[in-house]
Amino acid sequence: MFVYLLFIFSIVSSTYIDVVTKCICEELLIENDCNIVNYCYWDQNKCIDIEDCTIESPVDCPYDIKCAYVDGKCTKFTSCDKYIGDKSTCEAISIQCTSLDGNKCQNKVIPSCSEFDEENCNYSDGNEGECGFIDDKCQVVKQCSDIDLIKGEFQIMKCVSNIHSCKVSNSKCVQKKCSDLQDQSSCQYIHLYDPFDKPSSIQICKWQDAHCVDAMPNDLNESNCFIDTIYSYLWNPNSKTCQKCNGPPPNPNPPDNFELIMKVAIMIFVISQ
Ligand SMILES: *[C@@H]1O[C@H](CO)[C@@H](O)[C@H](O)[C@H]1NC(C)=O
Ligand SMILES: *[C@@H]1O[C@H](CO)[C@@H](O)[C@H](O)[C@H]1NC(C)=O
Repeated sequence: MFVYLLFIFSIVSSTYIDVVTKCICEELLIENDCNIVNYCYWDQNKCIDIEDCTIESPVDCPYDIKCAYVDGKCTKFTSCDKYIGDKSTCEAISIQCTSLDGNKCQNKVIPSCSEFDEENCNYSDGNEGECGFIDDKCQVVKQCSDIDLIKGEFQIMKCVSNIHSCKVSNSKCVQKKCSDLQDQSSCQYIHLYDPFDKPSSIQICKWQDAHCVDAMPNDLNESNCFIDTIYSYLWNPNSKTCQKCNGPPPNPNPPDNFELIMKVAIMIFVISQ
């Protein structure tokens, strides 16, 4: 029984870390971290956020979801229905916008995977992420092993295209591990499969005795803490540790009793252990 529990525990306590919350410039404490991302700037011993949407290129600006290219300038994106124009004008303002009536812009509606037919499914991304024709239906791919259920040429192709998270092993598509990284320069991290290939969870890796092995944020140092956590942890020069960022301040109006609800939830959790 004990061994069994230990086994379960070792699965549950995988060392994947959450990288959804990114550091904001103001949190960064060393110049090196601050200068890595182009939206932050080191000024008089502080890291500050450079004014948003300073991208000049009319081609790149619409691709930044925070920005919109309006009247020959890259400005802060507000919402598609604030802009006017036909389809191509709206799409040149922001990749989030389109026009159906040819006069005003509106949000682009990305269909769900389930709306694609067999013909188009394997090539498409739905609003939930990458689609695949699995079990006679078009559905979102949730993990590397789902890719195996897409037969034919797409199986290997989709597996290989998710190179940060999946690998082909004995002609199956499986989740990659640190130990699959063969050389020191690639031994950084593995993404847990994500349908948008924008990782929300990663396993940090480190090079040890000529192998790439699992690591934790406290194995990182001032030169790789920020980068190897995809900008989610910062280097604290005082404690000399790699620590998780808080990210943007929370919604300014949390419910009054939010803290109380959290406390009760934590108590119930502790008691139930
Ligand atoms: C997509 O993959 C499915 C599942 O293997 C296959 O049956 C279907 O023919 C593929 N679609 C195309 C257009 O190749
Ligand atoms: C940080 O760790 C990496 C990988 O272990 C190592 O190559 C690098 O020299 C270290 N840098 C510093 C400043 O300690």
